[in-house]
Amino acid sequence: MSERFPSTDVSGVVALASDHGGFALKTVLKDFLIASGRQVLDLGTDGEASVDYPDYAHLMADALKTGKASCGILVCGTGIGISIAANRHPHVRAALVHDAFGARLARQHNDANVLALGGRTTGDEVAKDCARIFLETPFEGGRHQRRIDKLAV
Ligand code: RB5
Repeated sequence: MSERFPSTDVSGVVALASDHGGFALKTVLKDFLIASGRQVLDLGTDGEASVDYPDYAHLMADALKTGKASCGILVCGTGIGISIAANRHPHVRAALVHDAFGARLARQHNDANVLALGGRTTGDEVAKDCARIFLETPFEGGRHQRRIDKLAV
């Protein structure tokens, strides 16, 4: 049975991490969040040089586990690889999202603590909208908490 973590606090520090395929969008989101008054923790990568997305997913998982951040945003080319890697960690619920509806439901129903986006699939304005909604939407609890409890294997 995996360790039970409390509901996600999306008002706290937001960790950001990406591979090279997500670097440009991570930079856009970092600037957007700072301009919105949010505290961010940038875990890299720091440029367009080729890196391996699992390394950054694992850094995100560590930042959440140690409390350096309360939620996070991961970006790779598609958002697929980096969300798969992050979800290997039992305390991570990374939601790969492509629009505002997904961003809202990822919080309301799934209590996702990580928003995953694709830097090569999602435009800057849609991604900013997803981030804003993700970070202002509370978890609904109730029947959804029961389902989240059943994710533990
Ligand atoms: C890197 O080229 C690319 O494979 C990665 O960013 C991501 O899309 C993997 O899922």
